[in-house]
Amino acid sequence: MSKKRLVIGNWKQYISTPQEAKKYLSVFRNKVRTGSPEVWIAPAFTIVSAVSESLKKNAIKVGAQSVSSYTSGAHTGEVSPQMLKAVGAKFAIIGHSERRAIGESDTYIAESLAKTVEAGLSAVLCVGETQRDESGNYFESITSQLTSALAQFPRAYANKLIIAYEPVWAIGKSAEHAMKPGELQEMQIFIRKILADLLGRERAQPIVVIYGGAVEPENAYALLHEGGVAGFLVGHASADPKPFAAIVAACAARAR
Ligand code: PGA
Repeated sequence: MSKKRLVIGNWKQYISTPQEAKKYLSVFRNKVRTGSPEVWIAPAFTIVSAVSESLKKNAIKVGAQSVSSYTSGAHTGEVSPQMLKAVGAKFAIIGHSERRAIGESDTYIAESLAKTVEAGLSAVLCVGETQRDESGNYFESITSQLTSALAQFPRAYANKLIIAYEPVWAIGKSAEHAMKPGELQEMQIFIRKILADLLGRERAQPIVVIYGGAVEPENAYALLHEGGVAGFLVGHASADPKPFAAIVAACAARAR
């Protein structure tokens, strides 16, 4: 398994102007030591360029919260991987549950995933069940999301792929509603097995698996060390530089 640690801030619409972003980064930069974990930030499309400019001399990478499967032509409102790359993006989040909920299909997700890595960007593929039931149907929904998203994945780009496991029922909640570390451990092992089945053991091995959904400073350490993931995709707790920096610090700490 890869030893790389990665924490991604998904700013959603929390940080919405270049001014807000600048203020945020001036606080955040002084609070985090760059190196391990790697820190990536996904602002809204409209400020990717400004944030990337502000972080030009910094190890923090900038990316987008979504990306189109269309690369050029008559596609109103679509933003391609090449367009993102041209303004400094290094990665894109793909298939976030909030995007799936407003209509992104499995086909669109699979196509944008392939186009994104082919364009040289890293791709953070989100998968997650909407609910948990005792019959364990959630394993099937994760298998089906991974299988359809990776159906046409160009395997040579497996090193550009990151899986963000985000159970939808935990997203936006506070730490006590997050997944328990033991449940996470079980799920990340399962995800690794499916990745090995789909891409081959060797290609799957270095893929980084992170967790998202109600990650806060209070639960980050236990989720990382007992849950066995390589890091986090953080939503609401990344909207303020202080808790986000505390999550980064929890991921930098050695196992106690
Ligand atoms: P949350 O969101 O941290 O607010 O639960 C995570 C996400 O949606 O990526």
